[in-house]
Amino acid sequence: MKISLIETKEINKYDGLIVPIYEDKLELKEMDIPLEKLKETKRFEGKAGKTYKMTISSGDKLVEVVLVGLGKKDDISYRKLLNTLADGFRSLKKENIKNMALIFNNDNIEINDINIKAAVESIMMADYKFDDYKTDKEESEEISLDILVDNASNFEDVKKEAMILANSNIIARNLVNQPANIMNPLKLSEDVKKLGEEKGFEVEVLGLSEIKELKMDAYLSVAKASAIEPKFIIMRYKGDSENEDILGYVGKGLTYDSGGLSIKPTSGMVTMKSDMGGAAAVIGAMCAISEAKVKRNVVSVVAACENMIAGNSYRPGDIINSMGGKTIFIGNTDAEGRLTLIDAMNYIVTKENVNKVLDIATLTGAAIYCTGDAASAAISNDSEFFMDLDNSFKLSGEQIWRMPIFDEYKELIKHEEADLTNTAGNPGTVTAGLFVGEFNGDLPWIHVDIAGTAFAKKGNGILSKGGTGIAVRPLYYLAKN
Ligand code: BES
Ligand code: ZN
Ligand code: ZN
Repeated sequence: MKISLIETKEINKYDGLIVPIYEDKLELKEMDIPLEKLKETKRFEGKAGKTYKMTISSGDKLVEVVLVGLGKKDDISYRKLLNTLADGFRSLKKENIKNMALIFNNDNIEINDINIKAAVESIMMADYKFDDYKTDKEESEEISLDILVDNASNFEDVKKEAMILANSNIIARNLVNQPANIMNPLKLSEDVKKLGEEKGFEVEVLGLSEIKELKMDAYLSVAKASAIEPKFIIMRYKGDSENEDILGYVGKGLTYDSGGLSIKPTSGMVTMKSDMGGAAAVIGAMCAISEAKVKRNVVSVVAACENMIAGNSYRPGDIINSMGGKTIFIGNTDAEGRLTLIDAMNYIVTKENVNKVLDIATLTGAAIYCTGDAASAAISNDSEFFMDLDNSFKLSGEQIWRMPIFDEYKELIKHEEADLTNTAGNPGTVTAGLFVGEFNGDLPWIHVDIAGTAFAKKGNGILSKGGTGIAVRPLYYLAKN
């Protein structure tokens, strides 16, 4: 896909046009489209999320036009903008149109940073499709999209940032979409090394012996039944050498989750390549942060491993240790993510000197009951830090919802025979998060559960089926702002 900002009024050089229009500003000065008639006949009224495709004749050419309804001007959000523009693009792509323009130089929609950014991000993300393993792919011509504006040079920087963000989101989607027989801990660590070299962040990978030396017993308990060794991946980006502060990100990196001895049914297992969605989010964010040269120090870690079954599997009923020294009763081997996260959390807090920390994970099926696929669920011990994250999500058009931490919940993670239990009961999303929070060293901390948002059952708007690259852009903004 090639995206350019172009100053032209010659719309008949394109085969397809995307025309965004507000419901309460239903006018187009420079194009001859019968908007009044369309409204009268209720075919197109500019209502949010509605698109209308028509063919117009311009000169000696037929041009496909998709009108994209933005709804009322006061109700527009970045999220709506992204998804409706993506729908418009999808409808032209379906017609196999390769040469298209997005009309911004009318009075239909303001030419400003936000709208240009939304256009670039939305269309790049909507164009993504995972087909690495299709052997009958046709080589198809690259799509070229011109965004028609009045003053292109003013928006080149915004376009560049939007491209970095969309590309980083796609990097995360690709990592998640690779099947687990390919994307194992070793492959993940190799891919991160390459990304670090390409984008400009430092990568250190610890192998089995170093993980043992660090006494990451909880992480090792999960990893040990796999034929493939765990890899502890550390990514460091120093964007602000005058400042000591370091923001820490921890991503869950289960390249596959079979459930272990508490085995999942096939229906639950079949998408478990996505159990490294948290890792993909922090890796994608590191790519964006370093490519855009954000002025902030950020360290991210991923305790990559597989939750498998073998004679040496950890068992329900076991009591294990952790790097932080707390003992844990294993009620269920499928609650493995939190065990890998606590050692990663303990590591980043005690060894990397971060002063704020966020962990992100496809952690609980319960999160799907809380917020579905519309929002990621979160808990936090610091309202100011959470507000920064909430704003970062809004800037990206993604949604997050903070769950409460009542005193009663804090009791649930305790165990009679061990310090903690990995199966603390309801509300499962909050108690899983609190378990991880036990190791946050009392720093400002946010836990984000993306079990409902990391993997899409079908493609829609900016999302394609499979990995969503969720939280990559919010984690970029959190570092930047
Ligand atoms: N990886 C799963 C959570 C998950 C479920 C992610 C569905 C995406 C979609 C996690 O490791 C898990 O299995 N959690 C258990 C915990 C329970 C045994 C306490 C769950 O949520 O059922
Ligand atoms: Zn599990
Ligand atoms: Zn899991």
